[in-house]
Amino acid sequence: MTSPLTELTRHRDVLFVGGKGGVGKTAVASALGLARAREGRRTLVVSTDPAHNLGHLWGRPVGDSPVELAPLLRGVEIDPGRTTDAHLSAVRQTMRRLMPEHLQGEVDKHLDLARDAPGTHEAAVLERVAEVVEQRAADELVVIDTAPSGHTSRLVALPELMQAWTEGLLRRQDRSARFGAALRGLEGDDQAAADVVGSRRSPDRRSRRDAEIREVLDRRQQRFRHLRTVLQDHDRTGFVIVTAAERLPVLESVELHEQLTRAGMDVVALVVNKRSPGDAGDLLAARRTLEEGYVEQLASALPHLSVIQVPLLAGEVLGEEGLTALGRHLA
Ligand SMILES: Nc1ncnc2c1ncn2[C@@H]1O[C@H](COP(=O)(O)OP(=O)(O)O)[C@@H](O)[C@H]1O
Ligand SMILES: [Mg+2]
Repeated sequence: MTSPLTELTRHRDVLFVGGKGGVGKTAVASALGLARAREGRRTLVVSTDPAHNLGHLWGRPVGDSPVELAPLLRGVEIDPGRTTDAHLSAVRQTMRRLMPEHLQGEVDKHLDLARDAPGTHEAAVLERVAEVVEQRAADELVVIDTAPSGHTSRLVALPELMQAWTEGLLRRQDRSARFGAALRGLEGDDQAAADVVGSRRSPDRRSRRDAEIREVLDRRQQRFRHLRTVLQDHDRTGFVIVTAAERLPVLESVELHEQLTRAGMDVVALVVNKRSPGDAGDLLAARRTLEEGYVEQLASALPHLSVIQVPLLAGEVLGEEGLTALGRHLA
């Protein structure tokens, strides 16, 4: 039987899979990717959840560079630390080139602070997502297994956030560099003091330097703008919400749907995963009855959304075999 998920997702280029932790995002993203790869479509599954479990589900190590999981199917687990370091080192290089040598300690101090600033990691992950989407081969399907925070909807606001970040970085950089120089001036370093005076006297040099640093940062912002365009393109991109038929995941799914829709994204389907069987004893039958209430709640809150129900499987969802079994209920 063809499930609506097959039809709804077949012609897209980029699919996001999101939902609360533990509901089965990675399993659904993998099973969906595997089903497409089996149909002959080159597919890349990208895990952005810091609690990576793509490798665990496939029973093999997966890291920051793509590895083959099955014919035509590759997987990658994005490492935000590595991404942040790569980005900051590009900024550092530019700043070093443009700042007087004795202020380079200040540059380092400043960038080390930026590394741990709130939002830096999140932005780094999203930058990698943007990169993956940009570098996608023409016929390739990219399935993005997202973090439970629902950060995807915030992506849409990122170009503006990045602007603020860039401005903040330039301002702080300016302040800390001059502050450091002034301190050294007090300690009797005449060259530093002269520099402070000099930088006040030659706004030209400073603004040229700022312009160059800004350019490095702006490239990043443009990348986010491009990603936003792709995200909001309903022909190319869709979002699949995965949930369990339980109180909190259901509430969060309705909220996530609302956020994504507001952000201009197309939610293509809702997967209600791990449905209990009604014919396997009293305990599970009671659970199934409880779940029915939540499925109804979802259907009335999101009346136009396709709902795909996936049973709780007896076997462990592990490796190609387990994911094939799960995939039968999806595609
Ligand atoms: N339909 C299912 N039946 C049985 N186990 C499942 C099913 N879907 C997922 N699982 C298992 O549930 C656990 C959590 O799934 P996972 O995809 O890792 O969740 P998430 O990525 O949302 O945190 C995994 O051990 C997975 O094998
Ligand atoms: Mg996961």
